[in-house]
Amino acid sequence: MARRELNISRALEKIKELPTLPDVVFKVNEIVNDKNTSSNDLENVISRDQAIAAKVLKLVNSAFYGLPGKVDTLSRAIPLLGFSTVRNLVMSISIIDLSATGGFDMKQFWRHSFATSTAARAIAVADRLPDAEIQSLAGLLHDIGKILLLQYFSAEYREVLEVMSNEGLNFLQAEKSLFEVNHCIVGRIIADRWSFPENLRAVIAHHHNPESAGDMADFVAVTATANILAQQTDEGFYVKCGYEKCAEACESFHFLTMAAYTMVVNDLQKHMVFFESFIDRMEVFRRPSPILVEDAGKKKGDKGIWKLPVK
Ligand SMILES: [Fe+2]
Ligand SMILES: [Fe+2]
Repeated sequence: MARRELNISRALEKIKELPTLPDVVFKVNEIVNDKNTSSNDLENVISRDQAIAAKVLKLVNSAFYGLPGKVDTLSRAIPLLGFSTVRNLVMSISIIDLSATGGFDMKQFWRHSFATSTAARAIAVADRLPDAEIQSLAGLLHDIGKILLLQYFSAEYREVLEVMSNEGLNFLQAEKSLFEVNHCIVGRIIADRWSFPENLRAVIAHHHNPESAGDMADFVAVTATANILAQQTDEGFYVKCGYEKCAEACESFHFLTMAAYTMVVNDLQKHMVFFESFIDRMEVFRRPSPILVEDAGKKKGDKGIWKLPVK
């Protein structure tokens, strides 16, 4: 595949077609960032979007949040969860709703994103860094550029997967060997279009090279480290390789303390069980359309769906 076939202007055309995030996301963000707002303000805004409100309550009542008894109103849920967690829930739900599959197995994509989010939060908590909740959101969204690329340039991205397996490259290296653009560049443009805060934009653009993130380098280094720990290997996540190997792999980004490593291992064990139980129920993870599956080519998985390695 020639380099010219996926360039920035083709990607930009598709980004323009991308729907904007629902209004509720921006309003929730404003409220969370404004110290003079109350639970009532947040509740009023979310209640205006009934679909989102219902999904927030459904997730709140899942075992993951471990809240006592059934929480059936937002007015109860908001003080129990806190503003940042509610903001993260609303953003995640809205973005997951927008993502289509393009013939790829997106379950694996979201598994890696969710694991990175869990690991980023655990590192922030263990190392007593501020903003554990926003670190968690950054982990969830760091590879968002891939959503657009896999959806609109699925033929080109099948080639990325082939190059990865034939030449032993990681995702970014394979993209760079084929195209002018990559998921970090495209993700940054999407994050600008969706008016994400600067720390999230920096993570999306620089999670493979945090040192180039300027003032945000320390913040991005946490996601970069979590991204490595949440790499999928045959036995599970990279954390299975043990502390020494993980610390070495993350060395150039962030010093991985034993406390952070232990917390990541524990949290992944606990939270991925939740992930596996809820992922199949979400619309977005259902099978792609038969047409896309049919032309998916020789590297299809057993069920005709492309397996998506995430590195
Ligand atoms: Fe990435
Ligand atoms: Fe990643």
